[in-house]
Amino acid sequence: MTTKITILCLILLSFGVSCSVATNSYAKVMDPRTLKLNKHQKLTHLHLYWHDTVSGTKPSSVAVLPPRNNATVFGEVNMFDNPLTVGPQLGSELVGRSQGLYAASAQDQFGLLMAMNFAFTDAIYNGSSITVLARNAISDAVREMSIVGGTGHFRFATGYALAKTHYFNPTTFDAIVEYNVYVLHH
Ligand SMILES: *[C@@H]1O[C@H](CO)[C@@H](O)[C@H](O)[C@H]1NC(C)=O
Ligand SMILES: *[C@@H]1O[C@H](CO)[C@@H](O)[C@H](O)[C@H]1NC(C)=O
Repeated sequence: MTTKITILCLILLSFGVSCSVATNSYAKVMDPRTLKLNKHQKLTHLHLYWHDTVSGTKPSSVAVLPPRNNATVFGEVNMFDNPLTVGPQLGSELVGRSQGLYAASAQDQFGLLMAMNFAFTDAIYNGSSITVLARNAISDAVREMSIVGGTGHFRFATGYALAKTHYFNPTTFDAIVEYNVYVLHH
């Protein structure tokens, strides 16, 4: 019975007729327009630089678990709070921070699991975030990563990020990575 009402409701919604159905005490089918989801999704392109500083007295990225093998550093986990800037220089305009972790998750190659939020502090994006959860094969020239969600300005976010190493110091392991992020959101 509930299913039939839900279907009827969905049909009504498709004709632009408002409808909401309680399927039980804690869940109901809602008209997406109540969350202003009727309009087309927006596509935003973000071009940012991600600064992973592991050396020096004030690193923004710290190894919290050691590697289990020294060839591919499998098992190493870094926790980071990395600046996100508009330009490739660390001193360029700061728009937010990338907070999260990367973990070496490939045994036979350099491959990371990235789990991070881009927490924006700039202008209309202040307080909003997008979440990246993805594999990052760091020896590839360009790595594609998935955007799995967002908050605030980026609610209901999906999309992808293209990461390209802009600078890498093989002695200190400090890196600057260019991110081109394409995010669909409401
Ligand atoms: C990795 O290399 C370091 C330094 O040579 C050594 O102390 C450590 O035991 C090695 N780790 C493994 C898992 O082989
Ligand atoms: C961002 O929001 C925080 C918290 O509301 C506020 O303290 C800060 O001044 C805001 N920054 C900008 C650039 O608007």
